[in-house]
Amino acid sequence: MKGQLITLEGIDGCGKTTVATWLAQRLTNSRQYDECFPESLLKRSFVFTTEPTNGDAGRLLRTKMQRCEDASSKVSEETSPEMEQLEELFLFMADHADHLAKTVKPALKKGYVVISDRYSDSRVAYQGATLRDVIPKSMDWIHDLHSPWSTTPDLTLFYSIDPTSAMGRCRFRWKNATSGSTNGPEKFERVEFLREVDENFRILTKKEPKRFVIIDANLDLEEVEEETLNVITKFLSDKKYSRKPIR
Ligand code: TMP
Repeated sequence: MKGQLITLEGIDGCGKTTVATWLAQRLTNSRQYDECFPESLLKRSFVFTTEPTNGDAGRLLRTKMQRCEDASSKVSEETSPEMEQLEELFLFMADHADHLAKTVKPALKKGYVVISDRYSDSRVAYQGATLRDVIPKSMDWIHDLHSPWSTTPDLTLFYSIDPTSAMGRCRFRWKNATSGSTNGPEKFERVEFLREVDENFRILTKKEPKRFVIIDANLDLEEVEEETLNVITKFLSDKKYSRKPIR
């Protein structure tokens, strides 16, 4: 039996990581105690994963994304910002290759349901924006860079939220952060930029309406969580969604 790949996407502050954490708890730890656990999911094993990963490239990326107080707007005169954006794209791509090789493909081969908090669409939406003035048709170009070797998700949940509200959530997170990794704004947490990324995600949902399901992330967290579980349950209960062969 082949597995299924489900991805969760959206701009910073859309709440998908909170939902992914809840989902992991709901679909793994608490299932045996839960009388209402969906029948169709009982036989399935789930793998929860994320991009950027905790691998070498992923860790490097997270460090680079964290806005460093002393280096914030200091860009060396010799550094080309365009080349920095390209370097960033290829680091994300390297991380994706590592993710596919070590986690996604082996789990799919075993028939698991893989649920990834961010995946290749984040690249198309975010780096499609950072490279907009560097590469013509940057979104299509990044999409095509993945096509020959990546695995396309079977289902993608796009958490739709107003970018201003999303920024509000990011600010709340910075204020309440206790760990060093979330104690300040990450590189992309600016409302104008998030608006552009949001627009890019919407372009993707329109291009592949069968793969994308839009979740209203402006709703209360419990509603967003329940809606997520409903969509995944429906998807996994439907035989027509059985996986295509894996490369
Ligand atoms: P996270 O906040 O979901 O952990 O993601 C970290 C940041 O990385 C977030 O601002 C989105 C960004 N990102 C990209 O720009 N491109 C990518 O390909 C991925 C996976 C994430």
